[in-house]
Order: sequence, then C-alpha cells, then structure tokens
Amino acid sequence: MKATLSVDLTNEISEIDPRLWGSFTEHLGRSIYEGIYQPNHETADEDGFREDVIEAVKKLKVPLIRYPGGNFVSGYNWQDGIGPKDQRPVRLDLAWRSVETNQFGLHEFIKWCQKVGATPDMAVNLGTRGIDEARNLVEYCNFPKGTYWSDLRRKNGAEDPFNIKVWSVGNEMDGDWQIGHQTAHEYGRLVHETAKAMKLVDPTVELVACGSSNHQNETYGSWEETVLENAYDDVDYLSLHQYYDNFDDNLAEFLGKSVDFDNFISEVVAISDAVKARKHSKKQINLAFDEWNVWYHSMGADDAQEPWTQAPHLLEDHYDFEDALLVGSLAITLLKHADRVKIGCLAQLVNVIAPIMTNTEGTPSVWYQTIFYPFMQVSNYGQGVALTPTQTVPTYQAKNYEVPYIDSIAVYNSDMDEVVVFIVNKAKEQTEFSMSIDSAQLNQIVEATQFAGYDIHQTNEDQSMTLESLKTVHIDGNHIDAQLEPLSWNMIRINVKA
Ligand code: AHR
Repeated sequence: MKATLSVDLTNEISEIDPRLWGSFTEHLGRSIYEGIYQPNHETADEDGFREDVIEAVKKLKVPLIRYPGGNFVSGYNWQDGIGPKDQRPVRLDLAWRSVETNQFGLHEFIKWCQKVGATPDMAVNLGTRGIDEARNLVEYCNFPKGTYWSDLRRKNGAEDPFNIKVWSVGNEMDGDWQIGHQTAHEYGRLVHETAKAMKLVDPTVELVACGSSNHQNETYGSWEETVLENAYDDVDYLSLHQYYDNFDDNLAEFLGKSVDFDNFISEVVAISDAVKARKHSKKQINLAFDEWNVWYHSMGADDAQEPWTQAPHLLEDHYDFEDALLVGSLAITLLKHADRVKIGCLAQLVNVIAPIMTNTEGTPSVWYQTIFYPFMQVSNYGQGVALTPTQTVPTYQAKNYEVPYIDSIAVYNSDMDEVVVFIVNKAKEQTEFSMSIDSAQLNQIVEATQFAGYDIHQTNEDQSMTLESLKTVHIDGNHIDAQLEPLSWNMIRINVKA
C-alpha cells in the first residue's frame, strides 16, 4: 500500500495550545490514593507524594491537570479537603460508592501540580452545590488576602494565591447518572449566574462549560445549543467527552473511531458558531476535549467491586496494543483541530483508565501502559504549529464511516527547528509512506521511532513493549520516504531550516 502526505510550512492549521496535552485526575479508585499520594510508600516524599509517579508524570510533560472530578465533583465539598488532616471528615463518595478520607485535597493538589510542572484545571460542584460555593472557592484560591476565604487559605499555609486560571463549571451535567443532573436550560442558566459570580471575584479566570458527556447522549446537539444560548458571553470553552470501546473485538471498526471523534469535534464547532452567528457575537468559543480515551476493559471487574471501601480497584483498564493505535490516532485528530481545540485532557493519568499504573508494593512500582507511548510522544513533540495536511491515502469502509488506512499530521516547531510527523498505519500490511515538506530545507532525521510488531491484544504489565527505532526513513531533497510496519504508530523528527 502507498500513502502520501504533503505539507508546507507556510500553510498552517493553527498554533498548538500546549494545554492540548493535559490530563485528568479524579478522586476515583486508586487515582489519588495509592496513585499520586501514598505516604507509606517507599518512594513517598515529605508530602506523601510518590516520587516514582512524579517521575513518570514528568515524562508525559502534562501542562494542565483537571481535578477533582469527574462525577466525583458533583457531590464534593471542597472545604472537606482543607485544613489540618486529622480534622478532615471521612465522607461517602456517592459517585463511585467509595469512602473518601479527604487526606488529599486542594492544597495537596496544588503542591503536587507544582512538583510535576502542571497547572490546575479546577472543577466546581454544580450538582449538590452552586454559585456560592464556586465563588468562595475562587476567592479562596485566587484572592490575595484580607477576606474570610483568602485569609483562611493563608492560615492553611499558602500565603500566595494559587492563581488558578482554568475552571470547569460542573461535570457532565447532561448525564442522568450525575448527582444534581439538570436540563440544558437549567444548567445554562446556572452557568450564566455562576460564571458571573466567579468572574466578579477574579475577571482573569477562563471558564469551561459542560458540553455533552458523549455524542450518543440523546440531548447531544440541543444541549450544546441551549447551554451556549444561555451562557455564551460568560464562558470561554465548551467541553467534549468521549470514550471508545471494542466490546465487539472488531479491529477495523475500533480503529475507525477516530473518524467519529473527528466528526464530533467538527459538529460542536458548527453548533458553537451557529450560536455565535445568531447572537451576532464577535467572540469565539473554543473547545476543551477534557475527557478522551479508550475505556471498557475494566467494566466487568468494576461491577463486581465491593462498595464503600477506600481506594478500590476501579476503572483499571489494562490497555492493549490496538488501544495505543487508537489513542495515537485520536491525538492526531486533536492536532487536526488545533485551531479550535485548545484544551485536551487524556482521561485519566494514574491507575484509573490511565497511561501510568502503580503497584502498592514490590517492583516495578510503576509501569507504563501501551497508551503511554503515543501520548508521551505527542505531548513532548506535538508542539508549535499544526500544518495543513494534504493526503492521498486508500480507505476502507467501516459500518458508519469511510476510514483512511493512514492517519498522519506534521507540526512545525520553530523553537527546535523541527518538523515532527506522527503517523498511524491501520492497515495489516506494510505501507510505503512518502511525504513532501515545502518552504523548508530538510537537513537530517533527528529521531524516527515506531511502536509496532505486537499482537493487537498484547498488554504491557511486564514492560516488554517499547518504542523502537524506525530504520527505513530517508530524506531526498524536500521528500521523506519511510516503510511503515503493519499496524504501527510512528514518529519522525526532522531538522529543518525554514
Ligand atoms: O473518567 C471517568 C468518568 O467518566 C468521569 O468521572 C466522568 O466525568 C465520565 O463519565
């Protein structure tokens, strides 16, 4: 099979917002406890944070982390997680039917973010709480001093404000599983009023309103429209969530889901812009794809979990090779929409549908899932400017979509003088990939890697699956050729002179 990609350094989709490669950590299962926080672990630092996990998270270079939920946030009292730890209440977490000790809370999260080099995306509870709690939380976090909430923060050990910029206004409020689920109209009105109060406390905050929790939800479309009709001027981003499964064990259908992901983004852009036009607004709403991943392997085990325990093993998907291919393909799709998707959160980060897994004791203490590798490469090298791709690629017919066998995108990083190309080969045969890069002189290949050659259902508990060098890449003038392995994720970094 043959595929071509042409790009020109002067033909840009958009600057890539570094926050596209964010992630998410929720009080859920072993994401926080036994994940990032475990004071009795041999690698725990003075704050009880696992240093082995900090090192792994740093490899992913996540710039932004959404917290504390997810479904959890819709029943959460943030005040439970501040102040002396021995005085914090133990509560029922109704979302995940678990026991929450509150030993990890707001201050711990901020400190941990600083240690991993990320900024927070703080979610507020619009399920059981509302305007008052949200504006108090902004005051607690961002107001310098001299008021009840800001002085309480100082009393609790943080003299300087946290200055949290990005805030999620609720979580999946369209879902009937959500505590405090609302109609689009109710939620739209509440966002309007909550956002007003939050921005009165700190006009510099950026707010994310909940879009649909998935695009199969029956209110999808009208939900986005109604929420934006009510709150267009108050918020900055609209969220999208989507998880994919392969319960049918159908590889071609599964890998074709990137087309569905692509359509979902285009549709939400269209809906947002229709509301913009109707309102004669000059403002553009951008998108926050703040939950995306594969999620299904653990669902049976989760149903069998005993409720009301601390840090239960929930949502512990062990990802296989085909999952890594789809995650790579979804990441490429996000880059194709870099003009409108400014925030992305791979859901989640540690233990819960996550690229990083921990063992509570023994070795390895941390292990990388298959999806770790493509995500690590896009988060480290999917930076700069996304270039408009012109592709010639054979396609196959899935149930609902025509799917290109090759997904690819190139980015230009002028700081590093590099063009970086990401490619997924979804075909079960080798593919001759040839690429032209115009408006640049191609100097040399800096790095070329592939993730290939594994059984589609192989998982990585034993850490035997790794990136390898892609040896078939050649430069000839402004052309690059490579032989791509069947079913492979590939990255090629080229030193260029613009
Ligand atoms: O990420 C797991 C859950 O998926 C989140 O809590 C919720 O927002 C979504 O349904």
